[in-house]
Amino acid sequence: MDKPIKQICCIGAGYVGGPTMAVISLKCPDIKINIIDVNQERIDAWNSEDLSGLPIYEPGLKEIISKTRNKNLFFSTKIKESIESADMIFISVNTPTKSKGLGAGKASDLKWVEKSSRDVARFAKGHTIVVEKSTLPVRTAEVIQEILKSAESDSSKDNINFSVLSNPEFLSEGSAINDLLNPDRVLIGGDDKEAMISLSKIYKNWVTEDKILFTNIWSSELAKLTSNAFLAQRISSINSISAICEVTGADIREVSRAIGKDSRIGSKFLDSGPGFGGSCFKKDILNLVYLAEYFGLTEVANFWESVVEINSWHQKRISEIIVKKLFGTVANKKLVVLGFAFKANTNDTRESAAITICRNLLNEGANLVINDPKVSASQIEIDLKINSKISLDNENSSLNEESGSWEHSKNISNLEIFNDAYAIIILTEWEEFKKLNWKEIAKKMVHPAWVFDSRSIVDTDEIRDAGLSLWRLGDGLRD
Ligand code: NAD
Ligand code: UGA
Repeated sequence: MDKPIKQICCIGAGYVGGPTMAVISLKCPDIKINIIDVNQERIDAWNSEDLSGLPIYEPGLKEIISKTRNKNLFFSTKIKESIESADMIFISVNTPTKSKGLGAGKASDLKWVEKSSRDVARFAKGHTIVVEKSTLPVRTAEVIQEILKSAESDSSKDNINFSVLSNPEFLSEGSAINDLLNPDRVLIGGDDKEAMISLSKIYKNWVTEDKILFTNIWSSELAKLTSNAFLAQRISSINSISAICEVTGADIREVSRAIGKDSRIGSKFLDSGPGFGGSCFKKDILNLVYLAEYFGLTEVANFWESVVEINSWHQKRISEIIVKKLFGTVANKKLVVLGFAFKANTNDTRESAAITICRNLLNEGANLVINDPKVSASQIEIDLKINSKISLDNENSSLNEESGSWEHSKNISNLEIFNDAYAIIILTEWEEFKKLNWKEIAKKMVHPAWVFDSRSIVDTDEIRDAGLSLWRLGDGLRD
């Protein structure tokens, strides 16, 4: 008999744990869910009365949190109690690339997964289903199983046993709630059929049966890495073609539209941009590369590594184009950067192309004014690893002549941030950047003034009519 699930514990209250459990709490009102985290500040933010204080921004999230929080959804740091009382435990902790030691730069750092598994082994009671929600290297379930086995064989504990399942998450940031409510598929990997059925019953509250796939555990782990690798590969492919467009007179938007009409290729994920960012594409591909290298599959490893290499090259290429167009130097020039998040509708900046491009421009001595509707100045400071040196509000502030500097500007509506700017660089496709009054902005800038649109969001006629020079990614006619 499959086990009825009355209590869930989710370890890790991040971009995946938070939204995923919020949706389960909404769709399964009879299940009590405890989300736990070691980060007290994050938990406090999840519990903040003012819902705009939630630690992550996702459209639709705060509406769900307002309905279920403290009813059947609870955020806390009570690790022991939450694990003890759970029938099912999701592990949703971070799995970044290892920064040192064996496999540094490619392999996933599993120390947080290991710690979570040890906590589960220590505190769990009775039969507990442990679900890998984090994205993990193939065969990680074996590591978890081994740690849990030590608890099963501990004679001081009664009747304790575990089933380990893989249930990778495919949500995208910015559309997480919609993705969770309407998933393309729910993947459940494992060898304990009853545990798999228990987990599938939770999803069946809102997902149709045909979308729930059962596989073996290793296929499930590998399918997640492969899915991200394929998606990232499409972006590197289209971005590489944008460079060819620029030298041949072709237009990347037209090329994308033309190839996307082929039903075998499909039209999604063909938007050329400043290079893929986000916490997962790079790390998951490098994880795949590490796996291939480990098994001596050098050609396979090289193939996937090139997807990441093209992405880095592409970001450097964009930085260089900006400098070249501004007469070979941006030193002491004010440049307005619109967008710092790795994509629109999220406050996440992890691996954002904006970080690399801004750093390259700062190295060239540019003075950047950065605006993003959801990213804070303190986050930008962490990412750029440079203190903000000047402040627009301070009339006496002077621009540094030798090295670049940056400042954060919250407000673009009064257009003051464009005063005396030599160029505007669009790096994230936020809606508000599509509605700017270019005629008014042009009046405030130093001419010849440039707009660099890496996201293809501006109206080219409006820019031309405003008397601004425009560079768009993959626009061969304009170059
Ligand atoms: P995150 O960094 O936002 O959240 C992870 C949380 O886990 C942090 O708050 C951290 O404090 C907490 N944590 C770490 N160790 C802990 C422990 N031992 N006990 C309790 N809490 C602990 O990460 P994320 O973006 O939510 O990603 C989590 C996993 O999901 C990763 O493996 C990632 O690859 C995968 N994933 C992420 C996304 C995404 O869009 N972000 C999508 C699909 C899959
Ligand atoms: C990605 C996957 O889409 C999710 O399925 C997966 O669950 C998740 O990674 C994960 O494992 O973390 P996410 O990183 O949130 O989701 O965002 P995407 O929409 O995939 O965008 C990734 C990057 O590619 C962004 O920088 C985005 O701007 C860029 N992109 C995307 C393009 O440049 N062009 C496109 O056509 C699409």
